[in-house]
Parts: sequence; C-alpha cells; structure tokens
Amino acid sequence: DELRELYQEVILDHGKNPRNLRRIGDANHHAQGNNPMCGDTLSVYLLTNGQNLIEDVSFIGKGCAISMASASMMTEILKGKTVEEAETLFHGFHDLCTKDDADLSEAEATDADAVERLQVLSGVRTFPVRVKCATLAWHTMDAALKGDAEISTE
Ligand code: FES
Ligand code: FES
Repeated sequence: DELRELYQEVILDHGKNPRNLRRIGDANHHAQGNNPMCGDTLSVYLLTNGQNLIEDVSFIGKGCAISMASASMMTEILKGKTVEEAETLFHGFHDLCTKDDADLSEAEATDADAVERLQVLSGVRTFPVRVKCATLAWHTMDAALKGDAEISTE
C-alpha cells in the first residue's frame, strides 16, 4: 500500500545517505552492537549534557542497508531528546517488535511519540524478517546509555 511504499522510500534514502555516520570524539556514552546472525557490527556514540539532554548522537559501522537506515533514522530522532525520552522510545519499540502481531494503531493511540516510533518501526514493518537488522542500532544505543561496552542481539 501507499504507506508501505513511503516507508520503503525513507529507508532507501537513509540507507544510501546515512545521517550522522561519524565518530563523536568526546562522546560520554559508547557501545558496540553485534548481530551474530550475519557478523555485522556497529558502534553508537552519544554526547549528553548535565541536564541529560542528548546533544549529539552518531554511529559508525558496516551493515546491510536496513541496519544502516535504522541507525541513521535513530540518530535523527534522538538528537535533542533527553536520555529518559530515548529509553521510553526504545522500550515502546522493543515491546512492539517482540510481539508478532504488533498493532500500529494501538501505538499511535497511546503515545505522543507515535510518529517517531512509526518511523522507526517502519524498518521492522517493511522487512519483518530483518528485525535483528532494524533494531541493532537501538539495542546498541540502550547498551551505551546503560554503560555496557558491547552487546549481541541473540
Ligand atoms: Fe526488537 Fe528489542 S527492539 S527485540
Ligand atoms: Fe547484518 Fe542486517 S544483514 S545487520
């Protein structure tokens, strides 16, 4: 359908021209995420200030187009958000994507961040079999904020 096509376009664009694909030299949070299914890895960097605001967020790595696009979209979504908002988005996303029949209308109705979440979910919804790819950056970001150096998506 139309929405699906739009999602695919957005993902293609981010996959071809990833945003914030760089290292942050003075990052105060950093983690590496590994996808054992394919051997791809990516690193996420965050710079937060004293008010827990995410001033800058970036990633580097080599992965498939979906993992790169999802990481790119994530950096755009998280910049300017608080650490707490980032965690809330991640958990909502995580909960939805672990349900087989995640109901998007439910997400839309219950959360003010629904638009962002839908953008993120698009990677999952458009390519359901590639959920590990689409969520790698988010799991890595979560690890970085928790202070874990490395994670693997099992
Ligand atoms: Fe899907 Fe965590 S975001 S398993
Ligand atoms: Fe490796 Fe997608 S195939 S992250």
